Amino acid sequence: MKILIFAGSTRRDSYNRKLAHAAAGIARELGATPTVLELSDYDIPLYNADLEAEGTPADVIRFKQQLHAHPAWLICTPEYNGSYPALLKNALDWASSPVKADPQWSDGVLPFRGKVVGMASASPGSMGGLRAQSHLAPLLLNLECWVAPRSHAVSLASEAFDAAGNLQRLQNRQGMQALVEQILWAAGRLA
Ligand code: FNR
Repeated sequence: MKILIFAGSTRRDSYNRKLAHAAAGIARELGATPTVLELSDYDIPLYNADLEAEGTPADVIRFKQQLHAHPAWLICTPEYNGSYPALLKNALDWASSPVKADPQWSDGVLPFRGKVVGMASASPGSMGGLRAQSHLAPLLLNLECWVAPRSHAVSLASEAFDAAGNLQRLQNRQGMQALVEQILWAAGRLA
């Protein structure tokens, strides 16, 4: 099973990027084929329908291709002001835009229908970015993604990873493993 994992942060020392890589390690141990996508590798402008009408930017197309090539995704989101960052919203808005639905990749205006998506978050705070997930879930459900009922939030993220990027607390390793297992299981059932 192929699973695409990405963080909603391009910060150099992003906790959510660390979490994405830790999740990829777990997915590999479970026999899956993870790809960690780095949003900073994609030059995605702020969405504007005029820009799209002139032609979807090449990097947006590349991003969409990666999303569509994977039946399962795991999004590791930061929490900004109780929600998820504009960076992530913008990327998902571009990729899901119904303005110029491409029949090659999309199912009418719901291009992500049937994707199995799990959510995780990491924050230096005590709630681990849980509120970002509660805002991200409705976006994914609106696109008719199958959102995993499990999720995981890594609290006190500044102390959660060792120097090699491993999750230090058993509770986080177990929570991420259960989440990745559930995404893979659901994607296998839906395939
Ligand atoms: C934050 N941060 C934050 N953290 C949190 O737990 N709840 C919140 O509501 C917010 N709000 C917030 C707003 C803005 C504008 C910024 C820049 C930051 C802190 C945030 O969790 C922290 O910067 C993380 O390190 C961001 O995730 P990455 O980049 O480490 O993955």
